[in-house]
Amino acid sequence: MMKTITLHNKTFKVFISETEISAIVHSMANQINNSGVKNPLFIAVLNGSFLFAADIIRKINIPNCEISFIKLSSYLGTESTGEVNELIGLGKDIKNRNIIILEDIIDTGITLEKIMSLVQKEEVADIKVATLLFKPKAYKKEIKIDFIGKSIANDFVVGYGLDYDEIGRNLPNIYKLKE
Ligand code: IMP
Ligand code: MG
Repeated sequence: MMKTITLHNKTFKVFISETEISAIVHSMANQINNSGVKNPLFIAVLNGSFLFAADIIRKINIPNCEISFIKLSSYLGTESTGEVNELIGLGKDIKNRNIIILEDIIDTGITLEKIMSLVQKEEVADIKVATLLFKPKAYKKEIKIDFIGKSIANDFVVGYGLDYDEIGRNLPNIYKLKE
């Protein structure tokens, strides 16, 4: 395993190994499987959660579970309303569904809050949130996070789907910025 790597002239060191990631994902899947949720529709948030989603879904054994993918678009509106967001890819009726959002990482919670408000508008039955990584010291929202893989300090991390300016997503381990 590469202990340190360089991306865009910054050095990163191994933080969570592939083996540990696998154990975390397995444990999260067990928690979801035992949570009693019926016919869940998992919604994975692209791009960051593509590997996490692919790995956890293969360990979910709830009958009739489904998975879909969304991307959040943000752009500046022409009106003074400022930022407008929409979900790209939510091309189906999710009314009355039990939703489980799959996120790679929750930092301040701003992204999660936007996703929650957009999904809530669709009159779903229930929304739960599963995130591989969580930065409790950075989190500024009240939204309950139902399944947390690992809580970490306010370090910048890359790998296993997470990027640094779009690179590093392919790395099987998670690395953190070296001080
Ligand atoms: P939030 O809206 O502040 O919670 O930030 C969430 C988004 O910021 C994530 O979906 C990631 O795309 C990105 N992000 C936050 N922390 C990191 C990190 O340590 N490494 C890579 N991306 C991060
Ligand atoms: Mg993300």
